[in-house]
Order: sequence, then structure tokens, then C-alpha cells
Amino acid sequence: MTHTIHTAVVGLQWGDEGKGKIVDLLTARHDVIVRYNGGANAGHTVVVGDQRYALHLIPSGILNANKLSVIANGVVVDPEKLIEEIDTLQQRGINVGDNLRISNRAHVVMPYHKEHDAALERAFAGSTPGKGGDFSIGTTKRGIGPAYADKVHRSTSIRMGDLLDKELLQRKLRSICAIRTLELKALGVNAPPLDPEELTNRFTAIGTRLAPHITDTTYLLHDCLNDGRSILFEGANACLLDIDHGTFPYVTSSNCSTLGIPPGTGVPGKHVQRVLGIMKAYATRVGAGPFPTELDDAIGERIRERGREYGTTTGRPRRCGWLDLVAIRYSVMVCGTTSLACMLLDVLSGFDELKLCTGYRLPDGSVTDRFFPDAQQLARVEPVYETVPGWSEELDGMTERGELPANAQRYLERIEQIVGVPIEIVSVGPERSQTLTMQSETVIS
Ligand code: GDP
Ligand code: IMO
Ligand code: MG
Repeated sequence: MTHTIHTAVVGLQWGDEGKGKIVDLLTARHDVIVRYNGGANAGHTVVVGDQRYALHLIPSGILNANKLSVIANGVVVDPEKLIEEIDTLQQRGINVGDNLRISNRAHVVMPYHKEHDAALERAFAGSTPGKGGDFSIGTTKRGIGPAYADKVHRSTSIRMGDLLDKELLQRKLRSICAIRTLELKALGVNAPPLDPEELTNRFTAIGTRLAPHITDTTYLLHDCLNDGRSILFEGANACLLDIDHGTFPYVTSSNCSTLGIPPGTGVPGKHVQRVLGIMKAYATRVGAGPFPTELDDAIGERIRERGREYGTTTGRPRRCGWLDLVAIRYSVMVCGTTSLACMLLDVLSGFDELKLCTGYRLPDGSVTDRFFPDAQQLARVEPVYETVPGWSEELDGMTERGELPANAQRYLERIEQIVGVPIEIVSVGPERSQTLTMQSETVIS
């Protein structure tokens, strides 16, 4: 019997690396696709021919027929957004039925979490938004932080399984709404008191609608493992946004590195032998927080326009900069990355030269090759660059690695040398066909 390989796909930067495209491609070689963290803050794009799909809560594997998609316990589920997503996919001819399972232990994002998220952002906004000069995070306002905070508070949280028990839900909401109404008022939200009876009826109806999907996904995944079915873990957000290992406090509220897989699914880490780290050929960030290689100039603008760097979830323009290999090497280490996918290489055509950040200069003049997963420390570093020659050819029509211009090949080789992990996949456009495999043995060919 051949050994079943399970794979994790994880973002190595600050999100939007192209995880959705790669998960869609890898789905062909796996049986089960699992989201283990985050919520509707994620926006994963999959392009199939002239169709473009933006997935927020449902695993990107859903577009492939006959695969099982699982939203595991580590995800915070906004069930109204989820129903919207299911309906939109179904209207577009995608089957969403028995093939979607949701953990009964995933915590629910309630409407008051979104109000709380927006109110906190307003309360903390300062004079220099976007640069880490104040303490507003620049969240997606999808209620992610307040929902995870309630999970940790315990007594104020609602889980997907609770939506199936009206009496329990009503009792919980009566206590929660009383507290939340006071908190929202204290945060300056001018709204009528939360109505537990209205919320009970609304979320019981949602529970009835989603009941066929809700199950114990931990046992489900272990049954799959025992049956020899292969699992693809789809990371949302990215390693540098990880609550413990990212650029705190400018992070999201979950463990979005691969370290989040065991607690977020109930599957021990030893099963994840293969970790594909997804990185752009440059760097982007959306929301606030330090970004050492940020380009606040015409080059950054050119990358933004060529890469169409506008948020999939919020439409916000993404901040753009040169590739930070100090950060990538750190994320590779934390995620146990075994190979890389280098995305959006096509965006870098037409530059005479490109820069790779290989170290950070500290205020005392010394240089380090270590990353600082702390916003205050990271804000004080200056990038140390290695300059490499660019290429003029457009790459989006290329389908073989041998077609890549010599300087593009050198750029990739230099990344491999500095990071110490092979590049397995290179992407030169959003479509499935615009993908080059760099190794003879790969999971997508
Ligand atoms: P994710 O959150 O990691 O799944 O990434 P997003 O979907 O938020 O953002 C990636 C964007 O880049 C999407 O619009 C993709 O369609 C697009 N994309 C993916 N790979 C490539 C590529 O190689 N070249 C170009 N030009 N666009 C790409
Ligand atoms: P995908 O999966 C890019 C960022 C937000 C903000 C911070 C906290 O598409 O790569 P939150 O709403 O989570 O409390 O926001 O994290 N952020 C993302 N940025 N891509 C994402 O997901 C992100 N998910 C969260 O912009 O700075
Ligand atoms: Mg995204």
C-alpha cells in the first residue's frame, strides 16, 4: 500500500499570496480539503477559465466535484456569510451539499462581534493610520477578533452546535445580549439594545438551514485518515499575521501558521508531512503594521497596478514592496515548510533591476538576518538589499520553466539559496494553466 501524503498550504507573508489558486490546483491530488483557522476575513481567489470565484469561509477545494470540504473547529463562522457563499456557489452551478461539513465546535461570529470590531477600530484610530503609528489594526471588520475573544472568554461564546438547540441558544443569548449591549454603548455605538429573542429566532432558522452540514469534524477527519484518504489543509491569512508568531499586535486573532492545524482540526501535526509555503515574488500587506520593504513610491504603485493589488475581501489597496527574504526565511522555519510556490512572478517584468531584502540594519548599525515578530522592534529596522538584474519579457503566456528569461531563473535560484527550500511551483498568472512546475516530482502534475 502506498503511503498517503497529507499537505498543508500556508501563506508565508501577510496574506493574499495566492493560496486559493494553489489549493484549487492541489485539490485534484487530495480527497479532503480543510480550513482550520480564520473566518470571513479570508478572501481566496480561484480563476477557472472566464469564471472568478472569491471564497471566504468555504475551502477553495469546493470547486472540484467529488471532494469533501471541511470547515473545522478552529474557524470562526459567520453563518449568514456562509449561507450567502453557499447560495452564490450553487447559483453558479457548483454543488454544495453533502460535500461540505462544518464543525459543531466552530465558534459563531454574531452580528454584535462585527459592531464591536468596527467600534474598537474607531476607538483606537490615531493620526497616522496604516503605518503602525496608532493601535487600530486595520481589520477587515468581519468580527474576527471579538469572536475569538469570546471563545477564550468561554461563557460568552456560541458554537455552531448551539444553533441546533433553540432552548440553549435562547438562554445563552439572554445573558450575552445584556452584557454586550452595555459594552457596545460604552464603546460609543448608538444602537438599540440587542434583542435576544430576535437573535434566537434568526440563528435558530440558520441552524435549521445548516444542520445537514454540522457534525463532529474531528472524528470525521480521523475516519478519513484511517481510510487512507489524503487531506489538504488550507491556511487562511498568513504566518506573519499569526496571533503568536506574527507582527503583534498587527495580526489576526488565530494561529494561521501551520502550527494552528492540530488545535484547529484535532489532527496531530505528525500527519502533515508536506508543507507548501506560498509567497509572492514581492511583498504586500493590507491593514496597519510595520512593513520594512514597503515602497511608498512609483515602483510600489507599478507593482500594485500590475498585480491588481486590491483586497479580495475589503477592496482596500494593498501596500506593496520588495521581497523580504528575512521574513520568508522566518515563516519557512515556523511553518516547517518543505517547498515553496512563488506566485505573481509575471508582475515583476519590466524592471531594470529588482531588490531582495537579505538582512535588517538595527538602530545601532549592526545587521541581522533574524526577523522580529513584534511590531515595535520591526518598525525600527532598515532593510539591507541585494540588487539583482530584472527582465523585460512578459511571462503570462509561459507554461514551461525553460521558457523563463535567464534573469527570472536567477531571481528564483537566489531565493532558493537564501531561504534554503526549493521552489516547487512558479505562478505567472491567475489561471490554472499559468503555472510552471520546477521539480520533476510535484504534487500538481
Ligand atoms: P489568497 O488570499 O492567498 O488566496 O490570495 P488572493 O486571492 O487574496 O490574492 C491573490 C490574487 O492574485 C488573486 O486575485 C489571484 O487571482 C491573483 N493571482 C494568483 N496567482 C497569480 C499570478 O501568478 N499572477 C497574477 N498576475 N495574479 C495571480
Ligand atoms: P487571506 O486568507 C490579507 C489582516 C487585516 C488586518 C489584520 C487583522 O485572504 O490571505 P482581522 O479582520 O483578521 O482582525 O484583521 O489581518 N488580514 C488579512 N490580510 N489577507 C488575509 O487573508 C487577511 N486576513 C486578515 O487586513 O491587517
Ligand atoms: Mg486573500
